Amino acid sequence: MIEPERAERLIDAATASRGNAVSNRSGFAVGAAIEADDGRIFGGCNIENSTYGLTVCAERVAIWKALSEGIRKFRAVAVVTDADTPTPPCGACRQILWEFAGDVPVVSATVRGARKTYRMADLLPEPFEF
Ligand code: THU
Repeated sequence: MIEPERAERLIDAATASRGNAVSNRSGFAVGAAIEADDGRIFGGCNIENSTYGLTVCAERVAIWKALSEGIRKFRAVAVVTDADTPTPPCGACRQILWEFAGDVPVVSATVRGARKTYRMADLLPEPFEF
């Protein structure tokens, strides 16, 4: 559960980060934002490059930024794209988000105002844990 005001604040941050996407290879710009337990928000965008395979999704950029600043507890994630319908994080990002953020709400939004909220436990049933 995430209150609408918090969700919109997180979507705003993800939208701002989406403006920095390096998405010239796919043409699909993604913004993400993660809310730390203390309320701080860290944004991220997808970063593509000539290898294609070393592309990093917006969600992972956001969480790497937070983790590298010492943040270890998280409350929510937002993702913003210009897809027709809200898109959930890819499989690789689900694993990482589960591992470091746990069962948080993930709010997916489109630039045209569609919204869908998931929970990590639903997105990644039976996760790998080690
Ligand atoms: N992408 C993300 O940044 N997040 C997602 O949740 C799905 C996919 C990026 C990776 C790639 O740069 C582009 O979107 C197309 O897959």
